[in-house]
Amino acid sequence: MKQGRAGAATAVDPVHFRHVVGHLASGVTVVTTAAEEKHYGMTASSVTSLSAEPPMMLACINNAVPTADAVSRSGKYVVNILGEDQGELAQQFSIASDDKFRNVASHRGVLGLPMLSDALAHIECEVSEKVVGGSHSIFIGRVVSATAGDGQPLTYFRGGYGRFEFVRDDEVYRQARQQVLSRVYQADQVIVLEDLATQLGVEKSAAFYALTRLYADGLVGRDPERGYVITAFDLGTSDQTFDARLAIELGVIDLAIGRVSASELAALRDRFERMAALLVGDRFVDFHDYLDANYAFHEQLVALARNPLLTATFGGLSIKSVMTRSFGSTPVTSQRFIDVQRQLTEAFERADAADARQAARDYCESAKQRVREILAHTGGRI
Ligand SMILES: Cc1cc2nc3c(=O)[nH]c(=O)nc-3n(C[C@H](O)[C@H](O)[C@H](O)COP(=O)(O)O)c2cc1C
Repeated sequence: MKQGRAGAATAVDPVHFRHVVGHLASGVTVVTTAAEEKHYGMTASSVTSLSAEPPMMLACINNAVPTADAVSRSGKYVVNILGEDQGELAQQFSIASDDKFRNVASHRGVLGLPMLSDALAHIECEVSEKVVGGSHSIFIGRVVSATAGDGQPLTYFRGGYGRFEFVRDDEVYRQARQQVLSRVYQADQVIVLEDLATQLGVEKSAAFYALTRLYADGLVGRDPERGYVITAFDLGTSDQTFDARLAIELGVIDLAIGRVSASELAALRDRFERMAALLVGDRFVDFHDYLDANYAFHEQLVALARNPLLTATFGGLSIKSVMTRSFGSTPVTSQRFIDVQRQLTEAFERADAADARQAARDYCESAKQRVREILAHTGGRI
């Protein structure tokens, strides 16, 4: 094993750097090794392929963690690439513990190291070089074996686990959602996976992916006997959801107005402007972008109360689903939505609780009214 050194002084604040570099999405692995019969494993995202000819990997490991010393001593490691449903495993291997492998199925690979049996892929490496860079060491490894199963990878982005999505699948989902919103299907109608795939001219896997996302949106439900069915949407659902949001926002106004910092207000204004740019001349520029921007604005408003329970309650309202089912069925809307949300933003900026309450009530009423108009064209149900 050769040893090298790399390092440079930095003027960038480490906390800021962590935030910025968190924008680099990555896969998630568990690097395992064994030294003196003891097994080691740690969650690592700073792992990548280095060369294909010859096959080589690198893993960046904090010198302070026991796995770094164990890899140095054993001179070998395994990269276990995690699948999308293995977030808990990633969590388990990211917390220092003497019992990292509890309840984890493992077997020995050709290097005699522990391999996580249910991982998406395994790459066994012998360390050919160790380079020290800042607080970490880069373990460059010659690949001895590489195997992969079927499935999707776990991903990591800005401190949260996620799953990978192909742009082409997203396009199929958008088409399927458009069909549901434009009432190609009746409320309560069964959607057969094969039929959806044929209709969209895509693979069954892409149609299945679309269905699972429509399910998450609340646009289709799962009936134990009939399978996927189009969920009905009516005035009651809409009114209850908008009223619940209003109740939360009135609470936020009471709790927050007069206690909001300049940077929180700037964030609210920024989110308002982003949203306003997406509704012009009584039309959505892009409904789904507007939906996301609208959600982000109200989420920021609720965050002004600095109460995580309120934020979680807001998150559980299915507001996006209700808006998608109603407003999403037509690009035509009303500029009034922007006007009244501007009044709400300005009332917060002036710390005027009475005006803020009025604007929140007006906004809720406008939304309910608009859904009534849309439902009037569809016989009360979508
Ligand atoms: C998603 C994620 C990725 C991580 N990536 C790395 C990494 O690439 N290198 C590293 O040294 N630590 C990384 N860590 C932190 C280690 O997993 C953590 O320090 C762990 O406790 C080390 O295990 P050990 O103390 O048993 O050696 C990561 C943690 C998480 C949650």
